[in-house]
Amino acid sequence: MLTLAHLDLRYKPACRAYHANMAIINIGSTRLSYDDQGTGTPILWIHGYPLNRTMWSPQIACLSVGMRHVSPDLRGFGQSDAPDEVYTMDRYADDLVAVLDDAGIDRAIIAGLSMGGYVAMAFARKHARRMSALILADTRATPDTPEAAKGRQQSAQKALTEGVAAVVEPMLTKLLCATTQREKPEVVSRVKAMMLGTRPAGVAGALQGMAQRPDSRPGLPDSRVPTLVLVGEEDAITPPAESEEITRLISGARLERIPDAGHMPNIEQPASFNAAVATFVQGHGA
Ligand code: MLT
Repeated sequence: MLTLAHLDLRYKPACRAYHANMAIINIGSTRLSYDDQGTGTPILWIHGYPLNRTMWSPQIACLSVGMRHVSPDLRGFGQSDAPDEVYTMDRYADDLVAVLDDAGIDRAIIAGLSMGGYVAMAFARKHARRMSALILADTRATPDTPEAAKGRQQSAQKALTEGVAAVVEPMLTKLLCATTQREKPEVVSRVKAMMLGTRPAGVAGALQGMAQRPDSRPGLPDSRVPTLVLVGEEDAITPPAESEEITRLISGARLERIPDAGHMPNIEQPASFNAAVATFVQGHGA
C-alpha cells in the first residue's frame, strides 16, 4: 500500500534518472514515444499543448513508490512523429490505447492536463473499460466557441507559415501565474523551451484537433470511476469555474485547488499537486 510517508513530495529535478525507459511504437506510419517507469498502480499521464511528456517529470521523479508511470508524447510532440494531419482528441485516445496495449496494461488511471484533459475525456467516452480512475487537471469540458475555433484555425496557419514562436510565445505569460513568473525563472525557461521545441505540424495538427472537439459535458455523468479534479487557483486559460463544472457533473468527483499556481500546477507547485495525487491514488486503491 502506498503511503504519504513513502513519498518525497518536493520537486527535485534529479530525484531519479528520467527517460530511462523510453519505448517506441508504430501506429501505421507514425512512431510514438513513451516512457514507462516504476512498478505498481499504472497511471497514464497525458501532456498539454504545446508541451511534451517531460512536463510530468516532477510527478514521475517524486511519486516514485507504488506507481507505474506511463507518459507518452502525443503525436506531433516531443519525440513522437508529427504527421501533417489533424489530430482529433479521439485519434489521440486511440493512440493511447495502443500505448497501453504495448505496455501490457489493461486498465490505468488516466490523467490529463488541459489538452491532455480533453484527450482523457475522449478516452473516457471511447475506452471506459481501460480506465480505473480519472484525473483531470486545468481543463474544461466545454467545446470551443465558434470564435475560438476560428482563432485556432488561424493560429494553425500562422504556425505553418511564420513558425512556432509566433504562435506559442504569446501563450507563455498566460500559462504560468505571476508568482511563478517572478520567483521561478527556471520553471519559466523550462516551459518556454518545451513550447519552442514543438514542430509547426504538431502545433497545427493539435490546434485543428482541439477546434473540432465535442462538448464533453453530456458524457461526464456516465463516468463511474473515482475522479480527482485539480486546478491552479490562478489559472487564466482554464479558470477554476471550468473545473467546478466538471466536478459537479461527475458523481463523487473531488476538486483540489492549488494555491500560487496558474495553468501548470504540476510544475508550478509540484509538492501540492503530488500530495493531492498521492492521497487520491491511496484512497481509491486503483
Ligand atoms: C493546453 O494547455 O493544453 C492548452 O492551453 C489547451 C487549449 O488551448 O485549449
